[in-house]
Amino acid sequence: MKKAFITGVTGQDGSYLSEFLLEKGYEVHGLIRRSSVDYRERIAHLEGNPDFHLHYGDMGDSMSLMSVIGGGRPDEIYNLAAQSHVKVSFDVPEFTADVDATGVLRILEAVRLTGQAETCRFYQASTSELYGKVEQVPQNENTPFHPYSPYAVAKQYGFWITKEYREAYKMFCCSGILFNHESERRGETFVTRKITLAAARISQGRQDKLYLGNLSSLRDWGYAKDYVECMWLMLQNKTPDDFVIATGEQHSVREFCRLAFHYAGIELEFTGQGVEEKGIDRATGKVLVEVSPDFYRPTDVVDLWGDPSKAKRELGWNPAKTSFEDLVRIMTEHDMERIRKESM
Ligand code: NAP
Ligand code: GDD
Repeated sequence: MKKAFITGVTGQDGSYLSEFLLEKGYEVHGLIRRSSVDYRERIAHLEGNPDFHLHYGDMGDSMSLMSVIGGGRPDEIYNLAAQSHVKVSFDVPEFTADVDATGVLRILEAVRLTGQAETCRFYQASTSELYGKVEQVPQNENTPFHPYSPYAVAKQYGFWITKEYREAYKMFCCSGILFNHESERRGETFVTRKITLAAARISQGRQDKLYLGNLSSLRDWGYAKDYVECMWLMLQNKTPDDFVIATGEQHSVREFCRLAFHYAGIELEFTGQGVEEKGIDRATGKVLVEVSPDFYRPTDVVDLWGDPSKAKRELGWNPAKTSFEDLVRIMTEHDMERIRKESM
């Protein structure tokens, strides 16, 4: 039985990856932080599974990482833990650097110092935010990085230290350069989930209006469930390497919004520009979406579009498993049902 250790196990990706690895017959160990509220929503259904184990620790605490990694001796480590919100990273840049940059080093050193450099395979959750103020469209593994937020700068360190340990110590270390991936488990302040929840609430009379920031921002959005398979595939490969994981399709925040409202039974029409732009219900003429500069970022990444050819060719991964339309529909239908239940 293979043993995997996942940091960020309570997050969107950590929960899907746990399910995926348990189904493959792994013993799964996850890192959790102590919190005043002890209900871990995304993994509650896994607690009690005899092959699923949780350990207290923190990415800022080397001793807890050494203890779990040294004691458990995992075959594979998936480092998913991060302060993952780009806008929040402008508010907590030092914490973001400690967790998203130095945290990666702490894990790698824990592996090395406990004598597991040759036996333990390591996956680092890198990101399309590394391309930031993009220098090439679409982006692939050879596109230059230009990080454009404290989050992306911290992740840049995580990417390079992972590569460094691969080269200096011959460790099996990989980075997945993942483009945005969403799901019905996505955090509620990321733009997609904020939209699907608002569309559900507005259509059921539980909210009046949705306020968003940059509607013209472009993203390559995939389904998180499909993306965790790729993390695993990278660690099963013959040699360690870095891969772009994306769908190869690009859409704007505005398009996502229009489609989510459509699945909630409302046809939106956008008029105006910049802060004056509005999303209007065609049937009633009511303004349902407005722009608020509160959601603008000091520097914003606006043109992400991934080229997944290498992952397709070398890992046999299928980037077209879930279409953009299906992703928006799955998320909106989930939130329609959730709001219906909450309203009863
Ligand atoms: P998420 O839902 O925000 O989950 C983040 C996880 O990190 C949570 O389990 C969180 O624990 C944990 N964490 C945060 N700070 C920690 C600390 N100091 N010590 C221990 N654990 C800590 O993120 P996600 O969407 O699943 O993303 C997973 C990883 O992929 C992240 O590294 C993210 O930056 C990266 N990524 C995500 C995307 C995407 O589109 N989703 C794309 C590219 C890269 P709590 O539950 O206790 O907060
Ligand atoms: N969150 C948010 N809220 N974003 C908004 C809003 C809003 O009200 N209105 C417009 N946006 C725009 C943002 O300015 C950004 O350009 C885009 O929507 C996507 O924002 P998020 O959904 O917050 O995601 P992100 O792309 O910044 O970051 C996510 O994807 C990265 C991969 O590219 C996170 O999951 C990161 O952890 C991940 O690395």
